[in-house]
Amino acid sequence: MNIKSLTEIISLKNKTAIVTGGALGIGFGIAYRLAEAGANVVIVDINEEKGNEAVSTLKSAGFIASFIRTDVSNETDVKNAVDFTVKTYKGIDVLINNAGIYPTIPVMTMSTDIFEKIIAVNLKSVFFFTKTVANVMINQARGGKIINITSVDALHPSSVGLAVYDATKHGLWGFTKNTALELAPHNIAVNAIAPGGIATPGTGAGSDTPVSPQMEEILKKFTAKIPMKRLGESDEIGKVALFLASDLSSYMTGSQIVVDGGVLLS
Ligand SMILES: NC(=O)c1ccc[n+]([C@@H]2O[C@H](COP(=O)([O-])OP(=O)(O)OC[C@H]3O[C@@H](n4cnc5c(N)ncnc54)[C@H](O)[C@@H]3O)[C@@H](O)[C@H]2O)c1
Repeated sequence: MNIKSLTEIISLKNKTAIVTGGALGIGFGIAYRLAEAGANVVIVDINEEKGNEAVSTLKSAGFIASFIRTDVSNETDVKNAVDFTVKTYKGIDVLINNAGIYPTIPVMTMSTDIFEKIIAVNLKSVFFFTKTVANVMINQARGGKIINITSVDALHPSSVGLAVYDATKHGLWGFTKNTALELAPHNIAVNAIAPGGIATPGTGAGSDTPVSPQMEEILKKFTAKIPMKRLGESDEIGKVALFLASDLSSYMTGSQIVVDGGVLLS
């Protein structure tokens, strides 16, 4: 048996990764670790200012990165982002479907427009990216890794007001398993990471903007339920994403890794 060294297994040198929603939060945490492992990282995000800042940070650390402004819920934008990546780096090896929104609005007060927006950003986007990128990967004939960022809410509701969000994350978990089946013959692995509470600009914790007293209260209550008694860091998702993007996970497809400080146990 030919056993590769750990350095070889973890390396993403000469590989290219797309990270959606990579300008901030969990997406940036993932982009950082993939770039550090040697990947050419393309940050795809709707926030141009933060996307460019993220690329500057990666480049000043000596990594290879680019940004392309993209609304992940727009099919033309998605095709442009994929074309840009293929033109710039001559292929795609890793796709991280991370961009997502989680407005807390009970069903009884939610408008149809907001419902459709959550479905479009969290789910339709993954259909657009998976289809377009898997097509490139199949033509390259060198396999690939697709990682979908779900949530503990794909398994169990964390709060009232997240019913539509939870529907998208349960849906994304189903999509992960079925695309894993469909793409396995092409040596494309599809797995998911289900984060618990992570300090990001989206949750308000760990952001430059001070959180509202209400949000502070919600976070305090949520944190009290976590057996590890703290929110996670984006890098704690980044490290698991590196595991799934690299050869460390060579025999895995159709799995969902829960990274939640134990909150699903409480
Ligand atoms: N933070 C948590 O506690 C937590 C827990 C479970 C799951 N998640 C999931 O992790 C993912 C990232 O969450 P986060 O907390 O880092 O969010 P965040 O709000 O801090 O960052 C999200 C990023 O996605 C980008 N984005 C939003 N809409 C977009 C669109 N239409 N097109 C392109 N980019 C868009 C934003 O500009 C931003 O850069 C989401 O899918 C979320 O559901 C987060």
